[in-house]
Amino acid sequence: MKVLSIVGARPQFVKLAPVAAAFARTVHEHVIVHTGQHYDVNLSEVFFSGLGIPEADVHLGVGSGSHGVQTGAVLSALDPVLDAHRPDWVLVYGDTNSTVAGALSAVKQHLRVAHLEAGLRSFNRRMPEEHNRVLTDHAADLLLAPSTEAMGHLAAEGLSSRAVLVGDVMVDVCLQVRDRVLAGSEVPPDLPAGVNPAEPYLVATLHRPDNTDDPHRLEALLAALAALPVQVILLAHPRLVARAAENGIRLERGSIRVGRPLPYAGLVAAVLGSAGVVTDSGGLQKESLLLRRPCTTLRPETEWVETLAGGWNTLVPDPRRLTEVEWSELATRRAPDSDPGAPYGRGDAAEQVAALLEQRLEAGTTA
Ligand code: UD1
Repeated sequence: MKVLSIVGARPQFVKLAPVAAAFARTVHEHVIVHTGQHYDVNLSEVFFSGLGIPEADVHLGVGSGSHGVQTGAVLSALDPVLDAHRPDWVLVYGDTNSTVAGALSAVKQHLRVAHLEAGLRSFNRRMPEEHNRVLTDHAADLLLAPSTEAMGHLAAEGLSSRAVLVGDVMVDVCLQVRDRVLAGSEVPPDLPAGVNPAEPYLVATLHRPDNTDDPHRLEALLAALAALPVQVILLAHPRLVARAAENGIRLERGSIRVGRPLPYAGLVAAVLGSAGVVTDSGGLQKESLLLRRPCTTLRPETEWVETLAGGWNTLVPDPRRLTEVEWSELATRRAPDSDPGAPYGRGDAAEQVAALLEQRLEAGTTA
């Protein structure tokens, strides 16, 4: 069996790691296509080297652009690549522009498409990721869902017959890296200058267009982080750095210490060393839960609703609607006592994906 994975942005490299490792333990051929959506070393290369992912077989080098330009560039660059490889399965990951372009290019060439992380919904149609998820799910032949909630969304859209619950491959990689960090076999993270790791700190990230692209909202979110009574390590995504610079908004202020995005093991170590997380990232909401740190999510909704149970994750659509005391108590709250369980599986999702693709191919069925 030949499987071709299409990845392009940071969260996809993290998900690719356990999938590539699972295929490496089989006789199957696994081809990796990197679209080049993310090209900074800190968003791309460090994930391949740090997580032991084999180098990409094909690099499309599409880079940045508006949604149409970026999605269209991936789409047109993929045609000859898929035509040359003719894989048994094309595997697309998550909800980025690279995902929807990969799915579309593959179905047009009558190749079987499997969508990993299928069925997630925010029901917020302002999010580019929401369009990408819905379109990819409806185009794909096999929908690999990470949770029962996701299975329910697929059922509601009439897609049950193509859907299988496999769990989340992010659990696989997060738990493996956590164990290596706790065993001391990973290099400690490079924390920003001025941070005292012996004192409590929060890990913060902001990169969603709804938070970064409106200067008033961005200014208010940064002011809220700056006013917190603990150190805030802000791991600044290129979109955040670019939007702040364009609008003359300072990132480093008050409690905020700005750092570059961390490699995966560094991020896991930073979260394990932290008192909690403040973020708008989907992945970090789950990683906080897996690493048992409280998470505050600066969004009105989440796709990962299971993280909200027991107060492990709390949504804050706008800190300006809270008093300073309420906001600071919330963001610095202690981890709940409740057991969050394992809503996204126990760390064997990638093995299940590899086995399922083989089974479906042999049976001559997709779903
Ligand atoms: C993308 C995904 C998002 C995912 C996120 C993780 C889409 C629509 N969004 O958002 O789902 O959560 O990746 O990081 O696919 N840039 C750089 N260097 C890079 C990459 C980007 O400087 O290596 C800059 C670009 O100039 C661009 C901005 O960052 O202006 C945003 O990049 P883009 O790929 O469009 O989306 P992300 O915000 O990273």
